[in-house]
Amino acid sequence: MSNKNIIWHEHHLSKEDRSAIKQQKPCLLWFTGLSGSGKSTIANAVEAKLYELKKHTYLLDGDNIRLGLNRGLGFSDEDRIENIRRIGEVAKLFVDAGIIVLSAFISPFRQERDNVRRLLEDGEFIEVYIDTPLEVCEQRDPKGLYKKAKSGEIANFTGISSPYEAPKNAEIVIKTDKLSIEESVEKIIDYLTKKGYLSFSA
Ligand code: ADX
Repeated sequence: MSNKNIIWHEHHLSKEDRSAIKQQKPCLLWFTGLSGSGKSTIANAVEAKLYELKKHTYLLDGDNIRLGLNRGLGFSDEDRIENIRRIGEVAKLFVDAGIIVLSAFISPFRQERDNVRRLLEDGEFIEVYIDTPLEVCEQRDPKGLYKKAKSGEIANFTGISSPYEAPKNAEIVIKTDKLSIEESVEKIIDYLTKKGYLSFSA
């Protein structure tokens, strides 16, 4: 379908206006890692800390988005690519609203993560690699999915029968076998503070 007659409308209020009133610099903290690596847990803990600091946030989480916006998408390469593309677009709108967005998706393909990075302005995309060895994720198996994947009950399972491409230049790497959840949160909050995301400057 052609969309040549659809034109992006400029709003009266700018991203800067919306950010200034919130006293923050909006960004997208993009958590990536294997299923069971701890993405959601750490993203939730970071969001709670930001809330304590009176920052305006929103968390986009894998399972929840797949129950709503992306219901109907599966786990073929094609569907995962579309999953991440839509999430990138939604996240971009939230960033435009002046929000600090956290997203927790496996997002196994480097190219799709880089596409989201390119959708945003420089410095707005912060890749957070939750680096947990596959064996540890398999042992944890919080949803029993690795067991099912290994017995062939689930196809295309990341790490087992579908690839995961680890980031090469993530802004933040969290090695969950070295850091506790609290230490991981501290590392991410430190990054945001030092880089000026938690205050607004015009
Ligand atoms: S992504 O690859 O498209 O980024 P996403 O993060 O949305 O994946 O969803 C991953 C979650 O879906 C996993 O944490 C797990 O609970 C569930 N899941 C169900 N089937 C699969 C599968 N084949 N591969 C990976 N995760 C799956």
